[in-house]
Amino acid sequence: MKNLFKLVILVSLLLGCFSQVNASEQFIFQNTKLKGEDGKMVELYLGVPVEILKDMDKEAKVSIKGFIDGNNIYSTKEKELLIAKMDEGFKLNKKNSNQVELVGMVEKEYLTQNSAEVWEEHEEFFYEMCTQCHAAQVVNHHTMIEWEALFTPMKGFAKLDEEESAYLLRYLKSNASDGLIKTSH
Ligand code: HEC
Repeated sequence: MKNLFKLVILVSLLLGCFSQVNASEQFIFQNTKLKGEDGKMVELYLGVPVEILKDMDKEAKVSIKGFIDGNNIYSTKEKELLIAKMDEGFKLNKKNSNQVELVGMVEKEYLTQNSAEVWEEHEEFFYEMCTQCHAAQVVNHHTMIEWEALFTPMKGFAKLDEEESAYLLRYLKSNASDGLIKTSH
């Protein structure tokens, strides 16, 4: 009994450690806005990883890194996935060349530690549409570029309209091997 008690304590301590390690990186749960210091806004897309700089009551101060082109921010310098759209004149921190950091406030209800949670509905739609003729493809076995090419004939096969195609392609690219959730493949 005493040992069991010790084990429970140990496990909860370990879990506590893990959640602390991950606590500084979270994900945008739904499309939302980031508010800069001067009140200028940035539109953020779902699944984007953010670093928590300061955790407040209802909001968090976060940092987002990406690559800039005009007012658009992409996840890579190849500009395959749009992750944010800035208001004209939003003040950002330049790193080097076109790499930038955006800092601002996000409402905490739009943040999650669990990236899988972000994509639950997309995943369901993917299984529904993309397993009619073959088994489900493993999304992170392909890169963003590969998905773009593979998806073109498949959206016809699955008879997706424009909106459904954009919705599904964002899921595939965000979860690709070089997408928003870095995997070791
Ligand atoms: C109407 C049937 C059908 C539907 C629906 C369908 N596929 Fe396919 N898919 C095929 C066939 C047939 C092939 C193999 C021939 C080819 O590559 O064109 C294939 C091949 C693929 C491949 C290539 C496998 C490889 O390694 O070359 C991928 C990836 C893929 N499908 C993804 C999808 C996705 C994502 C969807 C949902 C949007 C989808 N498919 C919906 C019929 C379908």
